[in-house]
Amino acid sequence: MRIDILTLFPLMFEGFLTESIIKRAIEKEKVTINIINFRDYSLDPHHKVDDTPYGGGSGMVLTPQPIMDAVDDLKTEDAKVILLTPDGIKYTQQMAYSLSNCKHLIIICGHYEGFDERIRSIVDMEISIGDYVLTGGELPSMVITDSIVRLIDGVIDKESHLNDSFNDNLLDYPTYTKPRVYRGMEVPSVLLNGNHKEIEEYRKSEALKRTMERRPDLLEK
Ligand code: ADE
Repeated sequence: MRIDILTLFPLMFEGFLTESIIKRAIEKEKVTINIINFRDYSLDPHHKVDDTPYGGGSGMVLTPQPIMDAVDDLKTEDAKVILLTPDGIKYTQQMAYSLSNCKHLIIICGHYEGFDERIRSIVDMEISIGDYVLTGGELPSMVITDSIVRLIDGVIDKESHLNDSFNDNLLDYPTYTKPRVYRGMEVPSVLLNGNHKEIEEYRKSEALKRTMERRPDLLEK
């Protein structure tokens, strides 16, 4: 899989690409992640990428030329172009699964007060990571990339993501490790008895209980 991220702040991605599971996925050639500064595509003599809004108002608006030229340059036949914006559809685990099957994603990180509306004409999908406003699309692009890359075959154990929260619209069941008793809190005895059927039933019922308490909206789905 190839992921191209268009940003004005490439340094924000340094830690993201050089640590932990994303680093390993890149080393194992499961994914190629290119960070592209779309300022490099600006035809303005001073490499300007923004301007004041027509009709007035505060803040600067990203101009269409650098972003649209960058996408034209990077686009392949398989590319899906994603724009990150609080106005987009809300991101879910189901969307992560679906995007993890794509061959090529181009992710555009918005910034400042917004972007010229005409940029929307070249995107396939607009995504928001939640109902709050961030200073730009960089963190959302990392959130989305992380959630997708861990689902690519061979990146982490399949078993680990089959048990993820949100699969089957359920939150995860509680897990424990050693020691058996810590600060007076004991590991539930059912997990110690080696009876796999009972363990499975306990986990299912705990996942359901937790989902009912914390996220009843998931059960309605
Ligand atoms: N840019 C700013 N806030 C955002 C959000 N919540 N989701 C996606 N992109 C954004």
